[in-house]
Order: sequence, then structure tokens, then C-alpha cells
Amino acid sequence: METPLTLYDRLGDDNLKKLLDTFYDKVFESQVIGHMFKSTPKEVIKDKQFCFLSQFLGGPLRYNQKYGPPKMRMRHLPHPIDQAAKEEWLSIMKSSIDTLDIDSDFKETLYACFPNVAEFMVNR
Ligand code: HEM
Repeated sequence: METPLTLYDRLGDDNLKKLLDTFYDKVFESQVIGHMFKSTPKEVIKDKQFCFLSQFLGGPLRYNQKYGPPKMRMRHLPHPIDQAAKEEWLSIMKSSIDTLDIDSDFKETLYACFPNVAEFMVNR
């Protein structure tokens, strides 16, 4: 029996990198959440998210290997994340996914991974 492809396999590293280039350009420009992203260089944040999403989407455990246990809620606690910040993050993710050259069903499947984990980061 064939092993089903993970979302990570279907997306591929090139698309994941493209997604994060677009996503963090928009995040850094955002009037709502951009100000939270001033302490770490964009390239470092992109690498952390690349490593995290690789494993979150079923691929290699890059974040654990490079940065240790994810503990994502804890890592977000210094940043005041309310519903408005969450909605902005999700809206930027959705519009960034939309720029990818992948079929529309897969865009929806990919986006559907994020609302629950984004809610988990809300801490205010
Ligand atoms: C809900 C809205 C969210 C906001 C406003 C937010 C904001 C932030 C901020 C301000 C940082 C730190 C940036 C810095 O170091 O300068 C960060 C780090 C990070 N975020 Fe989020 N985030 C959100 C949701 C998410 C979600 C849903 C994920 C994963 C699917 C995620 C993954 C990450 C990762 C991997 C890091 C790097 C952690 C580290 O190693 O330091 N974030 N986020």
C-alpha cells in the first residue's frame, strides 16, 4: 500500500519558501501586527517559521532539530495577541496562500490548518 503524501510533500520546500517570503513581507508592513516584529531580523523569523511549518505540515522535524521544542504558545506569550491580531495574521496567511501556483482545493486545505493553531496563540 502506498503511503499517503503529507501536506508538506504536496506543497514542497520551494512553495513553502515562496509562501513565507510573501507572508512576512505583508506581516512586516501590517498596521495591526507589524510593530510586534521589530526585534528579530525577517530572515531569522522566516527560517524559524519554515522549520516549524515543515514539521507542522507533516514533514521533517526541522524546528525541533534547530531550535528545540516548539512550545509555540509559550514563545508567543511576550507578545499581546488578541482576536484582532489573530484575524490579521490569518487574513495575511490566506492572501499569501492565494498567490501560490497550486490548485484551489489545495489552497483551502492548506489554509484550513491555521485557524485552530492561531486561536491557540491568543493570549489577551
Ligand atoms: C495569531 C496570530 C499570531 C501573531 C500575532 C504572531 C506573532 C508572532 C511574533 C510577534 C513572534 C516573534 C517575532 C520575533 O521574534 O520578533 C512570533 C514568532 C513565531 N510565530 Fe507567531 N504569531 C501568530 C500566530 C502564529 C501561528 C498560527 C504560528 C504557526 C502556525 C506561528 C508561528 C511562529 C513561529 C514558528 C515563531 C518563531 C518562534 C521562535 O522560535 O522564536 N505564529 N509570532
